Amino acid sequence: MEIIKYRFTEHGDGRGQLIAVETGKDIPFPIHRVYYMYGVGEGIRRGFHAHKKLEQVLICMHGSCKILLDDGKDKAVVPLDSPNEGLYVGNAMWREMFDFSPDAVLVVLASELYDEADYIRNYDEFLAYLAGQKGESV
Ligand code: TYD
Repeated sequence: MEIIKYRFTEHGDGRGQLIAVETGKDIPFPIHRVYYMYGVGEGIRRGFHAHKKLEQVLICMHGSCKILLDDGKDKAVVPLDSPNEGLYVGNAMWREMFDFSPDAVLVVLASELYDEADYIRNYDEFLAYLAGQKGESV
């Protein structure tokens, strides 16, 4: 599985750091929604879904957390602990987020508005969805 992590340009000077992320330059899709998670308790694991269409970039703005990615064939755990890196998560990718530090703030840049119909929240349905996609492309 290819892990796509972006390293954003830091505009640092004596006053501190500044990072700008722009659609088409740093992020490969139009950003239609931003949401963030914080105050995630110890031992909590969240996510447990895939999306049919949605693309996202995950940035751990503060603290640290880990992201499990699963494309139905391979799994990878990606640690996030810096505001200057973004993890690209494409569609049809099962994800779980865990090991949040108490101070973690995980920001998600998303390609679409919130749409519950775009979610696949059951792992077996996810595998069936992938199998259906393969069937379509033959
Ligand atoms: P949920 O999908 O359970 O979070 P995750 O799987 O990423 O841990 O979302 C938690 C709640 O927030 C749920 O009631 C749906 C709501 N929500 C929105 O209203 N808009 C959004 O953009 C997102 C991501 C969630």
